[in-house]
Amino acid sequence: MNEIEIAVQKLKTNEVVAVPTETVYGLAARISSEEAILKIFKTKARPFFDPLIVHVLNAKQAKNFTSNWTEIHQSLAEDFWPGPLTLILPKKNISDLITSGLPTVGIRCPNHPIALKIIKDLGEPFAAPSANKFGKTSPTNADHVKTEFQNEVFVVDGGQSNIGIESTIIEIVEKSETIEIIMHRAGKITKSQLESSLKKYNKKIVFLNPSDSISAPGQVKHHYMPTIPIIWISEEKLIKFSNINAMVKDFTSQSYLNPVIMNLNSDATIAARELYSQMRECSKYPADIIICIKTKNQIGELWESIHDRLNRASTYKLI
Ligand code: TXA
Ligand code: MG
Repeated sequence: MNEIEIAVQKLKTNEVVAVPTETVYGLAARISSEEAILKIFKTKARPFFDPLIVHVLNAKQAKNFTSNWTEIHQSLAEDFWPGPLTLILPKKNISDLITSGLPTVGIRCPNHPIALKIIKDLGEPFAAPSANKFGKTSPTNADHVKTEFQNEVFVVDGGQSNIGIESTIIEIVEKSETIEIIMHRAGKITKSQLESSLKKYNKKIVFLNPSDSISAPGQVKHHYMPTIPIIWISEEKLIKFSNINAMVKDFTSQSYLNPVIMNLNSDATIAARELYSQMRECSKYPADIIICIKTKNQIGELWESIHDRLNRASTYKLI
């Protein structure tokens, strides 16, 4: 049996397996088995208040799991699926365990041939959070997952995730003259891409932030954290210190002996792809603290998504 066949077999018998997607690797379980879904929470040490994303083969399959698939959802799916866009929809035929008891479900169609083949051969969607321990750095290759779970989880190796940060998560609220887009999580699909996709409806497009903690349950403040702390500091603030060591000492008031600088690529697409690998690389012994510098040229929508991750991943911020 090849890796895909083994994965499908395991999923059918209610095991969890790690599956590559274009964003990050996911820890998958079939959606119709509560026993399997429970294993996701147990393996990740994930709290039950944090809902899972359901991964579907296409828009046709997505419709089976929502009571309100509108023309706008259809149009977004046509423009962005398969791809890194998760739609929050009123749920249907989905266990409360997957949605943390919410009336809505997050659904996306991943743009990775292996993930799609697995969903197809399984005959049903899989639910999958990122394949890392809760609150820790997401994995973007098979080795990351193997290290994270000490080879306890079967991993289908699909190479390096091309995008490298998690999907954009949105919820659509259509009104008579406006289309509201609630941005639950920034990602690769940007506001301008969404805007240009929806302008054909001739309605005003309004972006909103999720207003309360219940509507954005997984967007906890500390997330994506590597094994050592990160100082996220802007160029302007950094030059006020005589050197890196002085800054670390002054700012953290702790004695870190081996600061390591994490240099992000100046191209946002590459920076996103490499972000989590770099966090892991920089955390290796003997480094004891990571310095990530926010430079002036990091401007643009994808940088905002990368900065969202750094903001949550860093222990110290001087921005
Ligand atoms: O790119 C991705 O989305 C990756 C790959 C594996 O597909 N998955 C991922 O899953 O990032 P996870 O579990 O790490 O993040 C899912 C987040 C939750 O933490 C929560 O914030 C949000 O999705 N979410 C899921 N269902 C939701 C719902 N019904 N309402 C609001 N937010 C929801
Ligand atoms: Mg995650």
